[in-house]
Formats: sequence, C-alpha cells, structure tokens
Amino acid sequence: MSEAKQAARFISFEGTEGVGKSTAIANLCAQLDSVGIRYIKTREPGGSTFAEQLRALLLDVNTQIDDDTELLLMFAARSDHVQRVILPALTAGQWVICDRFVDSSVAYQGYGRGQGEIQMLDKIDSLIANFVPRLPDLTLWLDMPVQEGIQRAYQRSAADRFEQEQLDFFERVYEGFYQQQQAHSQRIKRVDASGDAKQVSRRVWDLVQPLLS
Ligand code: TMP
Repeated sequence: MSEAKQAARFISFEGTEGVGKSTAIANLCAQLDSVGIRYIKTREPGGSTFAEQLRALLLDVNTQIDDDTELLLMFAARSDHVQRVILPALTAGQWVICDRFVDSSVAYQGYGRGQGEIQMLDKIDSLIANFVPRLPDLTLWLDMPVQEGIQRAYQRSAADRFEQEQLDFFERVYEGFYQQQQAHSQRIKRVDASGDAKQVSRRVWDLVQPLLS
C-alpha cells in the first residue's frame, strides 16, 4: 500500500539585518537534499520576475517614497510572488523555503516605520487578510542582538535603503519580531542565532524535523 502523500511545507526565515539567514537557509536546503525533500528557495521582497524589479526599487538608496507607498509595494511584490511562485510550488508538492515573508512587513513597516502604532498595524493586517492566502507552516525568527547583526551586515556589502536606517529603527524592528513571536507562538519559533553557523543550523533542523513526518 502506498503511503499518503506528505503535504508540501512552507517555511519562512525572519530577523533583523545580518543575523545569518542566508547561511541558515543554505544549510537547511542541504539537509532537505539529504533526506530527498523537493523544495524551492526564494526570497522577499522578490522571488518572481516582477517582484525582483520591485525589490531593486525598494532597496535602492535613491528611492524616495512615503511609508504607505513602501507598504503597498511590499505587498504588490508579495502578491505576485505568492500567485506565481509560492502557491504553484506548494501545489506541485515542493516545499517553499522563503527568506522573509509577512512578519518582515509587520516588523519593518509596522514597527520600524509606523512606530508600532495601531493604525499602521491594522493596514498590514488587512493587506494580509486580503492578499496573502497562505501563511507559512513554520517561521524561524533568527534572534541576535541588533547591533551585532548590523555590524556583520555593514562588513558584507554597501548599505541598501533599509540598512541606512539608524539603530533606533532596527530596535523597533526587533520589537516587532518579538511581538509577532509572542502573538503567534505556534507558527513562529525563536532560534538563538548566536554561536557558529553549525550550531544555528542544528537548532533550525531540530525545529524543521517534526514537519517531515
Ligand atoms: P534582505 O536584506 O534580508 O534581503 O531584505 C531586504 C530588506 O527588505 C530588509 O532590510 C528588510 C526589508 N523588508 C521590509 O521592509 N518589508 C518586507 O515585507 C520585506 C519582505 C523585507
């Protein structure tokens, strides 16, 4: 008798700048390869042809837009990405490993730009309710002191439009991730992102493994 086909899983990674998402994602993908899971690796903003065009605009240091426009562009990119890439992959039985998703909008646009004010958070809730038909099964919040991560990000490459923000912006973003984790503790798991990459990947794998069965 054939076993029931296992549902494809949707996993997102979140965190402030420089917390090591790329390495953690690469290591998770290697582990999924080793157990024969089919997956796609994608990112936000971006992940589809049009959303990558919006990403270039959103990260460009010369882009000057107000907070609502930024929020709407994030969700325009997300909508295209979800419809063209994420949902088709899940339907085809492929897992989706996504570098950032809706929780980044809550943290950056809601807490970073909007100072955590109810009005901005309501707008985001409504965009999620109307334009995001599927949330991740598991969200891994890589938690590291804000300043430590920023220093790593600055060493890596020239600062993009978000990375040019001041420390207090990133402290609000951190608070946003913290509040999201508290509010959605079933879906969002905190991962201690300090220590070497191997240790972090082991923590990630411990949280992903239950989804395999
Ligand atoms: P990255 O540096 O992790 O590739 O992410 C690009 C930037 O986009 C990062 O600074 C966070 C920001 N961002 C938002 O502000 N809102 C969002 O919804 C997403 C997905 C990313």
